[in-house]
Amino acid sequence: MASIYLDYNATTPAAPEVVVALLPFLREHFGNPLSAHAYADAPRRPMAAAREDTAHLIGARATEIVFTGSATEANNLAILGVARAWGHARRHIVPFAIEHPAVSEPARRRQELGGSVTVVPVDEYGRVAPGDVAAATGSAWHAGDAAPSGVLEVMGLSFERALDAARLSVGHDTREAEIDAAAATLIVAWRELTIAEHG
Ligand SMILES: Cc1ncc(COP(=O)(O)O)c(C=O)c1O
Repeated sequence: MASIYLDYNATTPAAPEVVVALLPFLREHFGNPLSAHAYADAPRRPMAAAREDTAHLIGARATEIVFTGSATEANNLAILGVARAWGHARRHIVPFAIEHPAVSEPARRRQELGGSVTVVPVDEYGRVAPGDVAAATGSAWHAGDAAPSGVLEVMGLSFERALDAARLSVGHDTREAEIDAAAATLIVAWRELTIAEHG
């Protein structure tokens, strides 16, 4: 019986033009482009061009592109390496409940090291409810136990003000009843705050 290979997250056959482009660097110009000796010269320029091209594809700067040897290495670098460089408390991460171990294991380790991690559940089809992600990232009105959302930081609010803030987002999935409920909750909260402040 003919089989169909569907695991393209794990590995894919290389496109013929990729093989052709790579061959000179596997055969003749095999030097490490980061080395200080002459063998580094030939691969250095194409490597820089590949970095520029990749950055252009995803709207990033070339200096933001880090090539790794595998997805596991990339995920560890993003989840543990960056946290280590920036400090674990500074960023909240939101993996899904059915992540590959290359994501779930470094996320678990990050939590063990004191990092802030919220695992978002999925339904029986592996689907995520947008509201769960919003609440988990602090985009929704949350209990104040996570760091303020990055949006509030970008708006220039101080840490204390951002933690105090109630940010309401309206999106495709927002229902009129949800807007009414949010408005009613805001009025109640404002009354409670006013009474607490002025008696
Ligand atoms: C979704 C997903 N993420 C990560 C990996 C790990 O990739 P790598 O073997 O390149 O480390 C795999 C491998 O199957 C995968 O399917």
